[in-house]
Amino acid sequence: MQGVAGVSGPAFGARHIAIIMDGNGRWAKRKHLPRALGHKKGVEAVRNIVRVGGEMGLEAMTLYAFSSENWNRPEDEISDLMGLLRQYIQSDIEEFVQNGVRLKVIGNYKALDADIVGMIDNAIEKTAGNDKMTLAVALNYGAQDELLRAVQHVAARVKIGELEPDAIHVDHIAGALDTAELPPLDLLIRTSGELRLSNFLLWQAAYSELYFTDTLWPDFDKGELEKALQAFGSRERRFGGR
Ligand code: IPE
Ligand code: IPE
Ligand code: MG
Repeated sequence: MQGVAGVSGPAFGARHIAIIMDGNGRWAKRKHLPRALGHKKGVEAVRNIVRVGGEMGLEAMTLYAFSSENWNRPEDEISDLMGLLRQYIQSDIEEFVQNGVRLKVIGNYKALDADIVGMIDNAIEKTAGNDKMTLAVALNYGAQDELLRAVQHVAARVKIGELEPDAIHVDHIAGALDTAELPPLDLLIRTSGELRLSNFLLWQAAYSELYFTDTLWPDFDKGELEKALQAFGSRERRFGGR
């Protein structure tokens, strides 16, 4: 396998990037504002980065918006986040259609409130024919939960005799993950200075390049994305070879 060093263009050869959008709360705290305003600014940063990513020619962008562990937050914060999600889907769907963005959701989003599930399904359907960039939003997503569901799917195939246990291949698992039809993950970015994956894309990140920045998510703009992609462009990817 060949690295991407030397590939030019705004995305430096990256096809699929993912972002752990962290630091909304700290952004608000620093400005003596309520956390909810940090999340609101975070949505504006999402809107901007989705536009920029499309312009840069990325094929896919996966954004961690709500983890399966974020249910541990206080009820009022969860309700603020769900309210913002409702607003975002409604206000941005037209722009997705105009810009050729196909919406996809990873994670067990069917467990969200019924009205949100309806809005999401409608947005997925409306943007299904778009092919400029896939925006995969991770909602009620946890990588362990995703792997568990994939294993259950494969086990069900074994049970009905479609597949022999010995014949289970990595492609069966990869194909049963929520990200099945997305390109391989090239770059995983985390904002806000935390150095952990927080149960995000554990399988998919096997050979992704990792990029951590102290910038808080609401401040993550085009220049920050360019910096991350530039860093990606200077990495030598070896995939275990030499
Ligand atoms: C990320 O910001 C947004 C979500 C997890 C929904 P945080 O809310 O985690 O912000 P910090 O980490 O407390 O600063
Ligand atoms: C990860 O951020 C989840 C999202 C960005 C949606 P968290 O703020 O929930 O992660 P931890 O708790 O610091 O690991
Ligand atoms: Mg956080």
